[in-house]
This record gives sequence, C-alpha cells and structure tokens, in this order.
Amino acid sequence: MANDKLWGGRFCAQTDEKTDDFNSSVRFDKRLYREDIEGSIAHTKMLEKQGIISTVDSKNIQEGLSKILKDIENGKVEFDVACEDIHMNIEKLLTDLIGKSGKKLHSARSRNDQVALDTKMYVKKELLNIKNLLLELEKVILNKAKENTKTIMPGFTHLQKAQPITFAHHILAYFEMFKRDISRLEDTYKRANTCPLGACALAGTTYNIDRNYTCELLGFETPALNTIDAVSDRDFVIETISCISFIMMHLSRFCEEIILWCSQEYNFVKLDDRYSTGSSIMPQKKNPDIAELVRGKCGRVYGNLTGILTVMKALPLAYNKDMQEDKEFLFDSVDTVKMCLEIFTKMFDTLVINKNAMLRSAKNGFLNATDVADYLTKKGMPFRDTHKIAGELVFYCIQNSKNLEELTLDEFKRHCELFDADIYSAISLENCVENRKTLGAPSSEATEHVIEICEKYIKEKI
Ligand code: ARG
Repeated sequence: MANDKLWGGRFCAQTDEKTDDFNSSVRFDKRLYREDIEGSIAHTKMLEKQGIISTVDSKNIQEGLSKILKDIENGKVEFDVACEDIHMNIEKLLTDLIGKSGKKLHSARSRNDQVALDTKMYVKKELLNIKNLLLELEKVILNKAKENTKTIMPGFTHLQKAQPITFAHHILAYFEMFKRDISRLEDTYKRANTCPLGACALAGTTYNIDRNYTCELLGFETPALNTIDAVSDRDFVIETISCISFIMMHLSRFCEEIILWCSQEYNFVKLDDRYSTGSSIMPQKKNPDIAELVRGKCGRVYGNLTGILTVMKALPLAYNKDMQEDKEFLFDSVDTVKMCLEIFTKMFDTLVINKNAMLRSAKNGFLNATDVADYLTKKGMPFRDTHKIAGELVFYCIQNSKNLEELTLDEFKRHCELFDADIYSAISLENCVENRKTLGAPSSEATEHVIEICEKYIKEKI
C-alpha cells in the first residue's frame, strides 16, 4: 500500500493516525500562514527571475497563493492534521487549486529553510508590536510622573522605610527598565534580520537561486551566511522569549508594588473598578486580580524560556524535529506579554494616587534620619560620628513617641552641641526631597529635567 503524503514516494504504508496526530504542528503553527504565503511568493518570484520556473507557472502559483490567503482570512479553510504543518497544508491547498504548477513551488527549497524563515518573519513582526506596546506604557508612566513630581512618598529598602522620594521618581525607575527592554527588543531584531531562505535542507542547492533577491523582497538585512546555521539556528526564538521574560519580570515587580500599595495597610493607590474584581463570598472585597495575574503569568513565560533552552541544548546540526517544539513556547510568550502589557497599561493609567496617604506614611518612620546626620556632617563632624548621633536621636524618639522634627532644640542640643534652629528646615520632608537635586535624584527640579529627556526619547521612538 502506497503512502499519499507529499513525501510518500519511499514509503509502502500509510502513516498511522496516531503518528499524524503526534507529528503534526498545524494546530499551532497555522498562525504562520501569512508569513508562509509571503515567503512562498517571494521564492516564486525568484524562481521565475532565475528561469527555474516559467512565467506562467509563477503567475499561477502567485495567484493561487493569494487566493488561499484570502480564503484563510475569510475562515474558509480547514487545515488537515494529516498534512502535518502549515507549510505542507498550504502547498497541498495550492496543488489542489492550480494543479501541476503548484507542484513546482517547492523547487530549491526545503521545509527547513521555510520554517526558519516563517518563524523569523513572525518574530520580527512581533518584536515591533511588543515594542509599540511598551512605548504606550512608557507614555502613560510619563504622564503620571508629570502629575506627581511633588507627591512625596516613602522610599523603601528591604521593604523598610528608607528616605523620602516622590511618586514620579519611583515610577520613573520603571520607565528606565522598560527603556532597556525596548533596547533589548531592538537588539534582538538586528540579529533576527538575516534571511535563511535558500539554505534549503542544510546544504543549499544546485539550482542557480538568487538569495539576495529573496532577502530583499522579504525585507531582511542580509542572507544568512551559512546554510547549516540558517536552518538550525533558533537563537532568535530564545532571545525573543528572553526579552519577554525581562519585560514580564519588570511588570511583575511593578504589579507586586501595586498590590501592596492598594492594600488597606498602605492605601497609597486605588484601582479603578474596571481593572479589579470582587469576591464570591466576601462582599466588601476589591481584589487586584489583574496585577496578581500579570505577576503570575511571569512564571509561565520563564517556563517557556527554560523550555526552549532545554529543547535546543545538545541538538546536533542541522535541523531536528525537536525544533518544532519552539513554536508553542514562542507563541505563548508573545501572546502573554502582549495581553499583560495592554491590560497593565490601562490599569496603571486609571490608577488613583492617594497623595495624602503617601505623605502621611512618609512622615512616620524617621525617613529624615540620614538628613540629620548630613546636617551635622556639613558642620564639620565626620559622617560615622554623625550617623551614630542621628541613630541615638532615633532611639530617643522611639522611646518618647516623637518624630525627629518634633524634638525641641534643647533635646537636639543634648545629643550634640552643633544643632541649631536651622535643623528644622534641613529635615523637613519637602526639603529632604527638594535638596536632592543631583541628576536622577528625586527633587522636582531634577525629575523635571529627566522627564524632558524621557519625552525626547519617546518622540524619537515613535
Ligand atoms: N513543522 C516543522 C517545524 O516546525 C517544519 C519543518 C519540518 N522539516 C522536516 N524536515 N521535517 O519545525
């Protein structure tokens, strides 16, 4: 009994149904149909230009592929698991549609360079989509920062109150993280920009193909220079999931803070009703499910990264079927990060900042203790000594239930003669923030300077 697969010539038996099911990837790689058709059209144009197929065949193939593209987009196509993957499904649809000409499409090509090409085209497109979503988020962060350059809040280290900062200063930290994420995406894009088409199975081809021509038609920077690497490289998948992992890690940290901030204990922010949820039993509840889910989804993306790294580890050159496993990791990571960025941006945009609660919190916890020490240091005492005096003052305050700024001048002087009446303005919360004017520090002046730089950055990127 013969085998009616595209590759069935050397087989005597039909493929077992279970093999078809197990081997097939069309269930998930069908999302590459656009890239596959675009790649095939470029390949066809090249075959015609090089005299490998006739103009008539080329025309038939291109028209057939365009019709298939429309049919797929109009939901008229059902893919067949027995045709294994999107590449063979489309080729089969084409030969069913146009007959003999269709059988010529695969000259001087293999599914190995075809799948590498399609996946790279998909990655390039999605890197740009993710970058645009990050830029949208950056805009929202910047707007919120502009409104909050004087919103004093406690800054933390070890989750213990440390020094006063502003809400603008705090969220501009995330602006920097997402800026680095954007630069990582751009960098990944550069390396993904080599065209594998023409590498064929692994060793190129004896046909006189023009790889520069297909490279140009498909918008790649240069053809990949080694045919073996071209078909066995999935670095671009790993790098993409790695970039996405960074973004998810940053989103997850941001979410963790929002979850803390909207708890009754902090009460720094209020989530918009549209981006929070209730409890099925406790009527009073308003839960930060969105932020929690984003934080949680970080885990699945890390899983995808570990998955693809493990699949690629120790694979001999060149193509191995293991590599088909790259797609679900990739697609899931892309879908997840896009979904998370979209919802997070809306949630953050509608977040209400409770300035009073932030200020109240900053007033307790001796956040100006460093400034007490700095005050004495500026009067000539070594910092290690002033640190000790400030520490003793904090201890005194704890025992007497006072804040540092509530101490009388006499109480200050009892700890050190160098204190004068100007200590009060030196340690007022406003001054603790506003006197930190150096580049990147929290004063409103320094923040506004950074905001200008950030605005320029966004304008250049869009
Ligand atoms: N579906 C395969 C993949 O995603 C396509 C390449 C198959 N090549 C082969 N020689 N079996 O990796």
